[in-house]
Amino acid sequence: MSARVTRLRAEHRREATGLGTATPRLSWWVDSASESSLLWTEFEKSTLDGLVHTVRVGGSEQVLVDWPFAPLASREIVDVRARVGLHDGTVGDWSDSLRLETGLLRREDWTVPLVVPSTSAPRTGPRPAWMLRAEFEVEVAPMRARLYMTAQGIYRSEINGARVGDDELAPGWTSYDHRLRAQAYDVTALLQTGANAIGIELADGWFRGNIGFDGGVWDLYGPHIGVVAQLELAGSDGVHRLVDLSDSWRVSAGPTTAAGLYEGEEYDARRLDPDWSRAGGDDSSWARPELRGLATVTARIEHAVAEPVRQVEELLPVSIEYRRNGRIRLDFGQNVSGRLSVRAEAEAGHTLRLHHAEALEDDELAVRPLRRATSVDSYVFGGTGEESWQPRFTIHGFRYAELEGWPEGTVAPGAVRAVVVHTDMERTGWFTVDDPMLQKLHDNTVWSMRDNFVDLPTDCPQRDERMGWTGDIQVFAPAASYLYRSAGVLDTWLRDVGDEQHADGAVPNFVPWVPCGFPEASSAVWGDAAAIVPWTMWEQLGDRGILAQQFASMQGWVDHLAARADDDGAIRTGFALGDWLDPIAPPEDPGAARTDRYLVTTAYLVRSARIVADVAGMLGDVTTQARYAGLADRTLGAFRQEWILSSGRMVGESPTSLALALDFDLFENAAQRSDAGARLAELVAEGDFRIPTGFVGTPIICGALADTGHVESAYALLQQTECPSWLYPITMGATTIWERWDSMLPDGRVNPGDMTSFNHYALGAVVDFMHRTVAGLAPIEPGYRRIRIAPRPGGTVRAASTRFDSPYGPIDVSWRLDGERFELTARVPFGVTAEVELPGRADRLIVGAGAHELHSDIRTLELRKTT
Ligand code: BGC
Repeated sequence: MSARVTRLRAEHRREATGLGTATPRLSWWVDSASESSLLWTEFEKSTLDGLVHTVRVGGSEQVLVDWPFAPLASREIVDVRARVGLHDGTVGDWSDSLRLETGLLRREDWTVPLVVPSTSAPRTGPRPAWMLRAEFEVEVAPMRARLYMTAQGIYRSEINGARVGDDELAPGWTSYDHRLRAQAYDVTALLQTGANAIGIELADGWFRGNIGFDGGVWDLYGPHIGVVAQLELAGSDGVHRLVDLSDSWRVSAGPTTAAGLYEGEEYDARRLDPDWSRAGGDDSSWARPELRGLATVTARIEHAVAEPVRQVEELLPVSIEYRRNGRIRLDFGQNVSGRLSVRAEAEAGHTLRLHHAEALEDDELAVRPLRRATSVDSYVFGGTGEESWQPRFTIHGFRYAELEGWPEGTVAPGAVRAVVVHTDMERTGWFTVDDPMLQKLHDNTVWSMRDNFVDLPTDCPQRDERMGWTGDIQVFAPAASYLYRSAGVLDTWLRDVGDEQHADGAVPNFVPWVPCGFPEASSAVWGDAAAIVPWTMWEQLGDRGILAQQFASMQGWVDHLAARADDDGAIRTGFALGDWLDPIAPPEDPGAARTDRYLVTTAYLVRSARIVADVAGMLGDVTTQARYAGLADRTLGAFRQEWILSSGRMVGESPTSLALALDFDLFENAAQRSDAGARLAELVAEGDFRIPTGFVGTPIICGALADTGHVESAYALLQQTECPSWLYPITMGATTIWERWDSMLPDGRVNPGDMTSFNHYALGAVVDFMHRTVAGLAPIEPGYRRIRIAPRPGGTVRAASTRFDSPYGPIDVSWRLDGERFELTARVPFGVTAEVELPGRADRLIVGAGAHELHSDIRTLELRKTT
């Protein structure tokens, strides 16, 4: 029997250059069909100068295991490989090597100044991007060259005319007053002996551009922008030497005459000097920028823990319409976050404008829902023959685009493409089902996740928000951590949540916070992201470290919420968004739900207090554990007193309140649970299986029904196509998840509400139910170390499958109904134990690693007829 380590990983990133920690945690998969378990793992670390060090770590853990060697230094490069020994005596072969390279780990490692192009810039309207350049000599070709960068603003750089890296919107958006993220680029191949030049374009981005709704805020983080670029060369001795650029920096306005994340970008190609980032480029008319000591940047500088934002995919239009008004309308068939890339020829000075929208209304681009995010790009041709352009310092949410002033008669194939731009996460979760509409619901959710993981988890990619709304990711976190390896994005964002939390534990409703007029008071469900998102990462990904990292923040939030409770422990006052976007809420009042918002608030306090108690226990702090367990019990007592009658019926009963009490386990006993399940099924049937829930109830209602024996009701809700329902948008041609159940009304008009997006992932959180219950794969122990495979067929679904590249290895579950025979195939990776429950069978099978085929007879189940 063999056993080989595959996929050795450090922390959460695929790429391991520019690691921000001296002690990266390691995870690995073991490829082995052995039933035996892991006895030890041996790691071999080699340094570039040939030193080899081996360590054997006992135990069976394979996920995010502590770094087994001495801490790494800044700029250190090591190769690590691993092999395993099993209890049955098997010793595996060595894995491939994983190269790790740390970035600048200590603040003292950053020694260059902040280069500030200009401090005097108009305060309204998107400002231009600046161009910075510096020349330098390279006497001997280096073994290695690294460019470490960060910025206040967003940057793109070139060396000797070639692009550095392939990331977009760098350094991304963090809570800039607290932390800036840094990038490390390998630029060895871009350098030449003799004269070299580096060029950097720097735009306002989130730092100083307009951000937020209701007018937004300018200059949020400061009146200036600036960039830090530290170029280091290492020769054969391995020692890094700084290239001193300070006297050489020059600054000028450039071709990007305006750039705003919401507004769009204006580019005048006539103003581009093609040699600006080449040695010998003419900068005689350029000015000297201001150089500020890095001490003026009080924020921490941390290397990124997630993959960067990149251009991930390109789409061609599925239709092109030549309009009477001269514009050309393109439909890309998919709502995306990104930009257009155009290629055309025109005379110098000709202007092309690019308009974007998610939807059409009255046969025009529906731009009203964009509110102030005008999303128009413009390009002035340089007249140099065929020109290609794509904006770089803006991003839009769109499916449709219109070209105004297209210089050619027609759009040649490939001349206009939609470039999809988002965090370049690794896909980990897949789902297939034989109902095409449910499949589309899942596919649309994947798209909405992609479009909203643009450096941080946002609410939407198109209007004047695109902010880290806490409630949205709180409900979507289980889905997000299944579909993509999103741990890096969630980790970096959670650091900001902790940084922006107030002294009294209050969590801003969106992070990073933008003071644009929204209430500063925290709301349950939203602020609970501080406790629930890290907990979800533990459950889904086995990340224990995130719990330790976030513990103070989790605890602070629960203390804050608890301080709002009355003497009996229930919360009855204060700001609460509640079951946001209940379908009965009128367009102008999205918080007007049928469920008591304080019932929701108090229930969430129980949930988050329990989490904090559990985490305290895991961290070995029994006193704190007891304190929060006590708080949870007391709050639960008050909840029952206030909202649960002795009969088990609820005061202010609603689908969301019942689902919540079931999902959070708030009932006193099994009889009450079962009655509540029955009552929930009744309410859902009374409502004709149209969705009766908002943000709070939607992610959990199907699970609450299925877990209390009402699988068919869950499927009836899930497969409903009348408005409001999950599938109604699909009947209207949706390609992403809408913010409102009826973002587009049945008559094809756009919902008149001021807040109407066609790309919000929150209501797509139901895919978690599809993974767990329809396909039937759920974790029992954190990280899917122990799993439940228990598909629940229902509705018209006769086959489904899922694959999850779990922290321990790939898991596959696939089932189909052949008449009355239920057939299941499953693949379980090494290190994972599965409990399998088949429909129609009362027993539970325990299986280990390997491929399994099982079947059962489902004559006893009542299933709806396939139509
Ligand atoms: C956002 C939501 C958010 C909500 C809460 C909206 O404007 O887009 O997704 O959670 O406000 O107030």
